[in-house]
Amino acid sequence: MSSGAFPSPQAARIDGPIIRPLRPGEEAELEALLAAAYGHARFGPTVRRLAGMADAAVHVLEAEGALRAAAAVVDYGRVAYLGIVGTDPAMQGRGFGRRIVEAALAPVPPDRVILLDASVAGAPLYEKLGFVDVDQSVVLEARAPVEAPPVPGMAALTEADLPAVIAYDSGVFGADRTSGIRALFREHPGGAVICRDGGRVVGYGLRQPDRIGPVLAETQAIGAALVAALSASGPEGPATITVPSSNAAMLDHLRGRGVAELRRLRHMRRGGDRHPSDRGRIAVMASFHLG
Ligand SMILES: CC(C)(COP(=O)(O)OP(=O)(O)OC[C@H]1O[C@@H](n2cnc3c(N)ncnc32)[C@H](O)[C@@H]1OP(=O)(O)O)[C@@H](O)C(=O)NCCC(=O)NCCS
Repeated sequence: MSSGAFPSPQAARIDGPIIRPLRPGEEAELEALLAAAYGHARFGPTVRRLAGMADAAVHVLEAEGALRAAAAVVDYGRVAYLGIVGTDPAMQGRGFGRRIVEAALAPVPPDRVILLDASVAGAPLYEKLGFVDVDQSVVLEARAPVEAPPVPGMAALTEADLPAVIAYDSGVFGADRTSGIRALFREHPGGAVICRDGGRVVGYGLRQPDRIGPVLAETQAIGAALVAALSASGPEGPATITVPSSNAAMLDHLRGRGVAELRRLRHMRRGGDRHPSDRGRIAVMASFHLG
């Protein structure tokens, strides 16, 4: 029985910033924090997705009665991905970014390769924490369907295809992304395409209303055909497409069809002796928090 004579740990720390997991019901506040940090308001689906994934941990820093910084890690087993790192613009430069990233990474087992895609603002922090450059993640924007010659074996991807797709994805990405792929598919089951050669999966792709990806494929022709199908299947309006810079064939293809480059992020790694993915077969990344 507590006598009440001793303050609880929470009470003792009440004036300083507190780092803790995101609580149910705080999604809208986190979304607003990220919108302020990144300068755009497209984080609703991301926050809800991460909050619902069993292998994702969203950390927040609370100070002066509000959420001031955030970072999330998705732990896929061999690979962990760090994303949605942001600090309230009014409170940057006080060490909150470093503290939230260190707290988010602390529970990650030491055998994981940790990956991230760094903005110009974030990169200096990640360098200090031991991350090294792999290549770049090139963000492009399609404003119209991106045409490509058809290839045989393309079909709408259904729930029944998911186990085979997840196994294929694991061989290319280097870890089991079941949670992320299932979450994206559930959100938009209509925006999903598979390509088979006989019974074998040789490519697949998913899309959300405002982005295409992931798209993984055995050949550039299949990757281009998947992007074409996905780009024609979405709503009107621009869709972002994020391509590893090591997939030069896909970048050339998109540029040749007038798809404009918006920006580049530094794809960085910490841990392991090599990158776990075959980035050449990743035609389009899923997102900066799902890899
Ligand atoms: C990146 C971001 C989270 C950093 O947040 P912050 O709270 O200001 O970070 P900190 O105060 O902990 O600073 C982090 C470290 O980076 C250093 N740093 C920050 N900006 C720097 C710069 N332009 N050049 C060199 N070092 C820099 C700081 O000195 C600090 O190093 P230290 O811990 O050794 O002193 C914040 O700028 C942000 O939210 N940016 C917009 C969203 C974004 O781009 N997120 C990152 C996506 S990868």
